[in-house]
Amino acid sequence: ASRKKIALIGAGQIGGTLALLAGQKELGDVVLVDIMEGVAKGKALDLQETRGVTKFDVNVTGGGTGDYAIIKDADVCIVTAGVPRKPGMSRDDLLKVNLDAIAKVAEGIKHHAPNAFVIVITNPLDSMVYAMYKITGFPKNRVVGMAGVLDTARFQYFVGEAAGVSPQDVNAMVLGGHGDDMVPLLRYSSVNGVPLTKLVEKAKLDAIVDRTRKGGGEIVALLGTGSAFYAPAASAIAMAESYLKDKKRVLPCSAYLDGQYGVKGVFVGVPVVIGAGGVERVLEVDLNEEERAMLTKSLESVKKSVAETKL
Ligand code: APR
Repeated sequence: ASRKKIALIGAGQIGGTLALLAGQKELGDVVLVDIMEGVAKGKALDLQETRGVTKFDVNVTGGGTGDYAIIKDADVCIVTAGVPRKPGMSRDDLLKVNLDAIAKVAEGIKHHAPNAFVIVITNPLDSMVYAMYKITGFPKNRVVGMAGVLDTARFQYFVGEAAGVSPQDVNAMVLGGHGDDMVPLLRYSSVNGVPLTKLVEKAKLDAIVDRTRKGGGEIVALLGTGSAFYAPAASAIAMAESYLKDKKRVLPCSAYLDGQYGVKGVFVGVPVVIGAGGVERVLEVDLNEEERAMLTKSLESVKKSVAETKL
């Protein structure tokens, strides 16, 4: 087809925001699928009704999980199906219930959109993306998890605020699992080449790293119900856009490792190149002893979570 197609599985807070952003950017026609059929259909119709004023010429349609055929031949599937955290919960607390959702979604995608690039957002991220990979049987370059882009976006904002500069000009890199032991690589971060430490004092930077690690929980506590959705949606859209337009952006994503960083057979956050070939390359950076130790610790929790999927 001359127009791309983006399937959003899960039409909740993130799914709805994804639909709006994908529409506004005219990335392609958008299809929303949710077990709550009315929610998917209602949000789709509401978005269609913006088109006269927003001027975007893509279609937004919706349906229930009984209508998986509507995702037929989607180019990209972005998966948020599942439940979000409640205050006091960790991402890992979601494993059982969300694994069930991911298993069903993976079957639907495998059957109806066998050539899609799949971006998983559902938490606990690193094990849900692993489950998606196992159940679809898709090649490793076509399944990826959204985490690092969000974590770095949060870091960029906090540094920008502290340094009095635009978050756009903050370059950051993060490795590891999407959890409270993610590994921010400060040595590889800068304000457009200017070392972070020139603009923000060390103690403040340490506080920013800590706030970034707990960034998801901070939003959960403020919202009272549900978890963050604007920044997660914007982050996944950056990944989808890089794929659809073959931009080859370097983005930190949860990707399948096949020996890189000394890790094999799990998905974990690393810098990757996303282009028309999906996850085209995993970029390896040198780690010092401290960073290596943080990555090892982060990997332990990822592996534990993956083992719980029994896949
Ligand atoms: N198939 C399709 N949709 C499903 C399924 C399923 N099997 N199970 C649940 N859903 C739908 C819900 O009906 C709901 O509309 O997924 C949607 C999730 O939306 P929200 O509850 O609003 O959650 P959201 O904030 O969008 O977050 C979704 O992303 O960040 C993660 O931790 C978060 O795992 C959570 C996910």
